[in-house]
Amino acid sequence: MKKRTPMVAGNWKMNKTLSEACELLESLKPELAEVSTVDLVVCTPFIDLPLAKDLLAESNIKVGAQNLHWENSGAFTGEISAPMLKELCDYVIIGHSERRAMFGETDETVNKKVVAALVVGLKPIVCVGETLGENEAGQTEAVVDRMVREGLKGLSQEDAKNLVIAYEPVWAIGTGKTATPDQANDVHKNVVRPILREMFGEEIGEGMRILYGGSVKPGNAAELFNQSDIDGGLIGGASLKTADFVGIVQGAL
Ligand code: PGA
Repeated sequence: MKKRTPMVAGNWKMNKTLSEACELLESLKPELAEVSTVDLVVCTPFIDLPLAKDLLAESNIKVGAQNLHWENSGAFTGEISAPMLKELCDYVIIGHSERRAMFGETDETVNKKVVAALVVGLKPIVCVGETLGENEAGQTEAVVDRMVREGLKGLSQEDAKNLVIAYEPVWAIGTGKTATPDQANDVHKNVVRPILREMFGEEIGEGMRILYGGSVKPGNAAELFNQSDIDGGLIGGASLKTADFVGIVQGAL
């Protein structure tokens, strides 16, 4: 038995209209109703959040967003702030590789967003991970090390208890190419975990959850989640289908 409660979080990305979201959530709820030993989260597009909040209010599934702005309010057309999200959800994904690659997110903006989320009591799911090029150049450790240290810079031990890390090798996201359980656990155990222990102390670092993300499927979930330092998953494509998401949650049970 692992000491850390596993978490399975869905990242819907830019998918699901309101009516599609309604359908998916209504079908997930009964399927997952008996799950009590895995923390469940669905991170929906902003516009689906009020619906998700209502539909999941009495359920064991928590709601998360996929991004936020670090300022609380003001002239930032098209952006959404932490206080706005706080009324709608509990979690927020920060620094997803798609945002880093396509929307100019940097370690610095990730850090500002993490701080803004924590201030209002949102729990960040902070994504880190190397690209294929970095992986092939042997830079995985250096890249992940930098992303974790810079992204979590200046946080207190209390802050650390309220956040989750997701290691998502970019080459494994949406590609069908999963890191092997050994490969993923090696980064979790020998790169991310030691930094967390160093930054926040042995006990807190040991207790923090490190999720794996990148082509997790019902067929590979259990083996991944069985690894010593893989504490669940951040699920993209497979979180859009009830049977797949439920199958992955079963892998965490
Ligand atoms: P995937 O995405 O499961 O579709 O690979 C994971 C993610 O981007 O969080």
